[in-house]
Amino acid sequence: MSWTSKQLLFLVAGFALNLMLLVHSQDDQSGFISIDCGFQRDSGYFEKTTGINYTSDATFIDTGESKSLLPSNMNNYQQPYGSVRSFPEGARNCYKINVTRGNKYLIRAGFLYGNYDGQDKIPEFELHLGPNLWDTVSLETYESTTKEIIYVPLRNYIHVCLVNTGSGVPFISVLELRPLHNASYQPKTGSLAFVSRYDTGQRPNRTGYRYPDDILDRFWYAYDDLDDWTQLNTLSTINSESDDPYQLPSVVMSTASTTKNPSDSLSIVLSLPDKDAEYYSYLHFAEVEKLNQSRLQYVLGDVAGNFGPFAPQYLSINTIYDTNAWSSGGKDVNISITRAENSTLPPILNAFEIYMVKHFVEAETNQGDVDAISYIKSTYKIKRNWQGDPCAPQHFVWEGVKCNYQDLESPRIISLDLSSSGLTGEIAASISNLAMIRSLDLSNNNLTGPIPDFLSKFQNLTVL
Ligand SMILES: *[C@@H]1O[C@H](CO)[C@@H](O)[C@H](O)[C@H]1NC(C)=O
Ligand SMILES: *[C@@H]1O[C@H](CO)[C@@H](O)[C@H](O)[C@H]1NC(C)=O
Ligand SMILES: *[C@@H]1O[C@H](CO)[C@@H](O)[C@H](O)[C@H]1NC(C)=O
Ligand SMILES: *[C@@H]1O[C@H](CO)[C@@H](O)[C@H](O)[C@H]1NC(C)=O
Ligand SMILES: *[C@@H]1O[C@H](CO)[C@@H](O)[C@H](O)[C@H]1NC(C)=O
Ligand SMILES: *[C@@H]1O[C@H](CO)[C@@H](O)[C@H](O)[C@H]1NC(C)=O
Ligand SMILES: *[C@@H]1O[C@H](CO)[C@@H](O)[C@H](O)[C@H]1NC(C)=O
Ligand SMILES: *[C@@H]1O[C@H](CO)[C@@H](O)[C@H](O)[C@H]1NC(C)=O
Ligand SMILES: *[C@@H]1O[C@H](CO)[C@@H](O)[C@H](O)[C@H]1NC(C)=O
Repeated sequence: MSWTSKQLLFLVAGFALNLMLLVHSQDDQSGFISIDCGFQRDSGYFEKTTGINYTSDATFIDTGESKSLLPSNMNNYQQPYGSVRSFPEGARNCYKINVTRGNKYLIRAGFLYGNYDGQDKIPEFELHLGPNLWDTVSLETYESTTKEIIYVPLRNYIHVCLVNTGSGVPFISVLELRPLHNASYQPKTGSLAFVSRYDTGQRPNRTGYRYPDDILDRFWYAYDDLDDWTQLNTLSTINSESDDPYQLPSVVMSTASTTKNPSDSLSIVLSLPDKDAEYYSYLHFAEVEKLNQSRLQYVLGDVAGNFGPFAPQYLSINTIYDTNAWSSGGKDVNISITRAENSTLPPILNAFEIYMVKHFVEAETNQGDVDAISYIKSTYKIKRNWQGDPCAPQHFVWEGVKCNYQDLESPRIISLDLSSSGLTGEIAASISNLAMIRSLDLSNNNLTGPIPDFLSKFQNLTVL
């Protein structure tokens, strides 16, 4: 199975176009941040197949160029994929997006090259989340790719950065943030990068589901092993309990797969992106048949810690997962649902998800230093390469800034060189908020006004 999101982003015949969506209440999207990168008007729009309200990226970034795809290269992808922001200048360019610290977000970045630059050459580049490598974007085809991660921000903003690695100009089509419930998807440590999310037993000719079928706008892909499986479904709705943090879509949970041969196990074998990494999986079950017999099953293998026996509840959702991460031991993963000996019916599975644990080790610069230098950046409208975190990673430290990395919790700014930067106006008092700064060079600018007292603390001070 492929991990690209092509199907869900296509406007295909099987994808219900519900005209009700055009008047969809935006209350449902509370907390959604939906950014159409490179969209060239200030106003937003409601995307017509999902009803999602997309806005331009103009207020989230101050570098890059907006480009449109030719309609003939859009291949019926949804509207946010019709434009990109590309970054021919600078090694690292970053979006800064306000979030609520401590809340859990699903962050998704989408890329459709579509020959926007007329070069007919697909680039490869890196995607960073704050100072850490999130993933490499290697588009193998002219189809789209999405990268997704479940992340709890430590600050009231996140930086999503595109990093040029010398293999072409980075670009991005769309950025989406979806708030998740704190109690869902809880790794012991780290963040969870998307590997797969499948609706098993999906109805024929459906390619997948997202918002508004899923109020959390997860992408559910169709997984059907047509040779070995039988599809079961119910016309009843299967709603998540209001306190279920996973809030699964009824349309996904009301279909299930079972085995054709009643004595077989239901087995799903998937290759993993990194065989050395650790993973979490979430298996979602609901009985869809009103039974006068018994269906009792186990989940075997490491993915859920040999769970069972259990009977899926009629029209009611169970999510099964191991609270510890598992590793594949260098092999493909084998998710196996087996019937209990005394079960009269074969096992079922409605949906499953797999995520890979990402450990982000680079710390962001001290918050007070970031606030102070950000203020200096906006006051003097400084261009340079001042993108993303000022000190981290060390490789991308801001031009003219020197940092101390001894405090592993957060690097500190210790020196600032703003000489010959065309600064005008008064010397900003916020420089004094760089509490650890020992060296300041403001020479060869047109700064006016009195020299503030706080400058006396600098050992190496060049002001004039
Ligand atoms: C879309 O959402 C933005 C904020 O995310 C809001 O400012 C704007 O009014 C919304 N657009 C419409 C048409 O509701
Ligand atoms: C983000 O938050 C900061 C600080 O609260 C605020 O100054 C800024 O205007 C916000 N940016 C956007 C794009 O809303
Ligand atoms: C989630 O947890 C964080 C910290 O644990 C807390 O600050 C935040 O309010 C919680 N959010 C919700 C929606 O419960
Ligand atoms: C699925 O689509 C194919 C080709 O478009 C069509 O022939 C078939 O009848 C469809 N099946 C169902 C169950 O709608
Ligand atoms: C029990 O289920 C079987 C198979 O679904 C069905 O043939 C039979 O009529 C059912 N019996 C009762 C009492 O519902
Ligand atoms: C997957 O695991 C099940 C149960 O342990 C086993 O029967 C099946 O052969 C395995 N499949 C593969 C391809 O390893
Ligand atoms: C079926 O077997 C399991 C153990 O495999 C046991 O826990 C359960 O009680 C049995 N159920 C019935 C109805 O016999
Ligand atoms: C400072 O300003 C003066 C007059 O506005 C201008 O002639 C001069 O070139 C400026 N110097 C620098 C270094 O920008
Ligand atoms: C001050 O400048 C001297 C000479 O340029 C340099 O050796 C020293 O490291 C500087 N001190 C600080 C705190 O930057």
